[in-house]
Amino acid sequence: MMKQEIDTLLQETLDRLARLEDAQELEKLRIEVLGRKGEIARLFKQLGASPAEERPTLGKLLNEARLRLENAFQEAKLQTGAASPRVSGLDISLPGRLPYLGHLHPITKVSMEITEIFQRLGFEVVEGPDVELDYYNFEALNIPKDHPARDMQDTFYVTENIVLRTHTSPIQVRVMEKQPPPVRIIAPGKAYRCDSDMTHTPMFHQVEGLVVDKDVSFGDLKGVLTIFVHQMFGQDVDLRFRPSFFPFTEPSAEVDIRCVICRGEGCRVCSETGWLEILGSGMVDPEVFKMVGYDPEEVTGYAFGMGIERIAMLKYGINDLRLFFDNDLRFLEQF
Ligand code: DAH
Repeated sequence: MMKQEIDTLLQETLDRLARLEDAQELEKLRIEVLGRKGEIARLFKQLGASPAEERPTLGKLLNEARLRLENAFQEAKLQTGAASPRVSGLDISLPGRLPYLGHLHPITKVSMEITEIFQRLGFEVVEGPDVELDYYNFEALNIPKDHPARDMQDTFYVTENIVLRTHTSPIQVRVMEKQPPPVRIIAPGKAYRCDSDMTHTPMFHQVEGLVVDKDVSFGDLKGVLTIFVHQMFGQDVDLRFRPSFFPFTEPSAEVDIRCVICRGEGCRVCSETGWLEILGSGMVDPEVFKMVGYDPEEVTGYAFGMGIERIAMLKYGINDLRLFFDNDLRFLEQF
């Protein structure tokens, strides 16, 4: 009897299905039962040969059995994770793989951190060109052609009058040339010097600061840089101003912080001095004011410049400058 056959096929298939776990076996069984030449197809053919009065009932029964089986296979497939056998090897139940997200380079981060500290103090961020006129890089900063300070800077010359800027100080001149006082700017950027060893790379980063107004004093410089050091390295970090020389500032001072490694005891990093130099600074030299058309009798100002790599190394305890430029993700991903 055909009804019997349909019932048996349905029951047996559901039983076998319940015991199957392998996706391939499952597909084999599906073809055997539901395939073009499978059991259900065979029964449909047989339907044509059955007595006409039984055909509607049997047809309905057979259709219902086919639907139930189709659903049962679909469910079983989902359970074995083989819902889409045509996309072989794809397990749609696995959590997705996130695309790799890049992030900012530690130098960029420290640069932003430095500029943000000064922005909160009312400084405006400006930039200048990397390829610079000799005039802005040297002359206007009171470093004439025959000045010994030029030898110290290992300049990359593009032509006789064009250089890769050796520091960010030329931005000071460009800003003052363009606007009357007061000035209060912070200028991050790349600098270049023909120098390469353990502690020097041909390209590095600096941040320049400049404040010009009536009655700006060395006390203002000390106050602002003290706030900076405390925000950058921590309230408990001591600093000192040590007399120095720069052609574009008079008087000039370098700022040291208490060694972040030994806390002042003396160690290799601070050459046993207990102090680490972090920046150069001073009161803007009247000669520089004259070059940009400011009246040194009217205004005074202070300037400072620092190396970002150096700040980053001290802040994060990094001992090799080259790590910043190797672009090894194992290093970069720690920031
Ligand atoms: N430009 C100097 C350098 O690269 C750093 C510097 C020193 C900048 C004193 C200044 C300053 O603005 O006042 O070594």
